[in-house]
Amino acid sequence: MMRAKIIGTGSCLPEKCVTNKDLSTFVDTSDAWIQSRTGIRERHLVSSEAETTLTLAVHAAEKAMADAGICSKDLDLILVATVSSDFITPSTACMVQKELGAYHAAAFDLNAACSGFLFAFHTVDAYFQAGICQTALVIGVETLSKIIDWSDRSTCVLFGDGAGAVVAKASSRGMIASLQGSDGSRGEILLCKNRTNNNPFVSTGKEPDYLTMDGQEVFKFAVKKVPECIENLLGQADLDLSQITYFLLHQANHRMIASIARKLNLPMEKFPSNVDRCGNTSAASIPILLDEMHRTGKLSSGDILLLSGFGGGLTWAASLLEW
Ligand code: UT7
Repeated sequence: MMRAKIIGTGSCLPEKCVTNKDLSTFVDTSDAWIQSRTGIRERHLVSSEAETTLTLAVHAAEKAMADAGICSKDLDLILVATVSSDFITPSTACMVQKELGAYHAAAFDLNAACSGFLFAFHTVDAYFQAGICQTALVIGVETLSKIIDWSDRSTCVLFGDGAGAVVAKASSRGMIASLQGSDGSRGEILLCKNRTNNNPFVSTGKEPDYLTMDGQEVFKFAVKKVPECIENLLGQADLDLSQITYFLLHQANHRMIASIARKLNLPMEKFPSNVDRCGNTSAASIPILLDEMHRTGKLSSGDILLLSGFGGGLTWAASLLEW
């Protein structure tokens, strides 16, 4: 059966790098607090109207296609995972298709918050297994900075903007096993309301339209759910922890990653991280990290990688794949 094999990666961060000290000039925070609670030192944020969800996505996609050695007409599917698209319609995926000239590709967006990239990757894998298509572009991209309340120190220090992309091809190698899940009953712990309905029949007051979060609940959810998810996935594939070359987790917080590593009784070297430089880029964090690992020569053919995302929805997902 054909599965999804990653044959190229790419990423793009906005030019502007914002340090913790920069943030402390307009919210009551400090480099020491942010570093000790999250491990974040800096993040990239869009700083002009020329940098958008679309432009970040297209740059990451172009790099992934160059790395894979394919051209846009080879693509038959484009999936974009995002919660911060520039338009409600057209989807970011359709806009990427236009920019790349990938006219043979079906294109749509998918929202599973910070787990979005893996949900999209699993969808591609399912399309490949069903024989629907052969070559797909999967992008995780966010400009979260537009849905953040920049006066709320409890959230604004955590997030960053960016995009990561992979090209996946139907192959007899690649994806080994995957799982995903959702718990909509706990959705209120990470919320961002869409625009208010202002039709003539609805009278609403001004409602908050920025991201709000119960940080401690999200933290507890992730450190419980991710190790469970990893153990289940390994059981499904009949592999054990020692066979995994790297665990690439959603980059939300260094303490969270350390606590998951501890629960699994594994050394931190098995958990590469870039949250210190990128902050939490939601759906983009796993493909950005994967691209960094690939470009810096950390991955070898045959490595077994375990990717795991968790976040808003609530949602969680994990993929086990051969590089
Ligand atoms: O993709 C998933 C997205 N979500 C996450 O990654 C969130 C996961 N949660 C976390 O990472 C942590 O819960 C946070 C980093 C968000 C918060 O860390 P915490 O250790 O849970 O801190 P806290 O919320 O308990 O706040 C402790 C104190 C509070 O002050 P008081 O009440 O003790 O006086 C906060 O007001 O820290 C204060 N505080 C800050 N101080 C300086 C909150 N944010 C800041 C800040 N700078 N930026």
